[in-house]
Amino acid sequence: MSIKTTSEPILGLSAKYFTDDQIHQQIKYKVFFRTWQFACHESRIRNKGDYLTLSLLDQDILVVRDAKMQLQAFYNVCQHRGHRLLEGQGNKQRISCPYHAWTYDLGGQLIAAPNSGSVSNFDVSSICIPKIRVENFLGFIFINLDEQAPDLDECYPGVRAAILDLCPDIESRKFAFEHHINEGCNWMTAVENYNECYHCKLAHAEFSKGIIDPSSYRIAPFGRGRVLAHTSRPTQSSEAWYEMQGSDYASYYLWPTSSIQIYPGGMVNTYYWRPLSVDDVCVYRGWYSEDGEITETLQKVIDRDYETTFSEDLKLVRNVQRGLHSIGYRPGPLIVDPAGGIDNELSISVLHQWLRESLGELQTNSNSNVSTDP
Ligand code: FES
Ligand SMILES: [Fe+2]
Repeated sequence: MSIKTTSEPILGLSAKYFTDDQIHQQIKYKVFFRTWQFACHESRIRNKGDYLTLSLLDQDILVVRDAKMQLQAFYNVCQHRGHRLLEGQGNKQRISCPYHAWTYDLGGQLIAAPNSGSVSNFDVSSICIPKIRVENFLGFIFINLDEQAPDLDECYPGVRAAILDLCPDIESRKFAFEHHINEGCNWMTAVENYNECYHCKLAHAEFSKGIIDPSSYRIAPFGRGRVLAHTSRPTQSSEAWYEMQGSDYASYYLWPTSSIQIYPGGMVNTYYWRPLSVDDVCVYRGWYSEDGEITETLQKVIDRDYETTFSEDLKLVRNVQRGLHSIGYRPGPLIVDPAGGIDNELSISVLHQWLRESLGELQTNSNSNVSTDP
């Protein structure tokens, strides 16, 4: 990955990208409806008929384990007159619409519609719920509304191997716990904040002592995909949150809204975001364990993470979103340090590049993430 360098500082992105509803609508179609989005961990839908629903802006989506134990994803909409089919999560052997009881099998095929026999040439077999791309990536289920999108390994080359290297048994992990909250900011405000640690010294004293070793921490583009890898040795401090043995810290951020993190010693956790509007996004914070149980150590880390890093970031991003609406805000130069290190916003400039490429404002150079001004 290389990024354009000039002798002039790189400025932050104009506030309109974070506040303008028309740009947000473009982002909806050009980013969110074309990229892989985290749906859930596969252990949450492990039995035949288990399902989970989610919304991606105005699109309701249904992920289900079908009769052959395959994962399926559909638009969560009845093909009769458009009622939502299922809510929340649960288990169903048939998908029956609550409006007029049109009923589909787990493959999305209509199998019954009351009194449809009275309609000449009503062909039940011709009606299916439209499918959505779905893939299992190391146990994490992703969906993509773009039928033509390259698969996950093509979008994020090398990530699977890198994560397996750190955590060889990740595919057998089970979902343990997740919490979520509306952040009251644009999705990009949250994602930018997640992807830089220039604020860590000031805002995340606990994380900086308890999990990572700031002197070895770096965030850099990874491979040819739109991926940012956060890496660090485990903390060297006596204030570690838990006894750390084994692997280093790493986090793989997968453009635009997903991140798989491995805390030192193979503690698997995730962040993912679902945009709600130009000024709001829901962040989901997930934790995984060998058997789905929450050990005492894991509970301590979940609580401490929530009380410190997570809550600290929430305050920051809400504050910044208000500032982005200020008439008096002029985006300042980013701290892009070619030498790397923790006090660096190279990753922010890369995110801006990916956003502007997606919007067609910069040319993308085929499969690489090198871009040039048009
Ligand atoms: S809208 Fe679903 S059965 Fe009528
Ligand atoms: Fe942070």
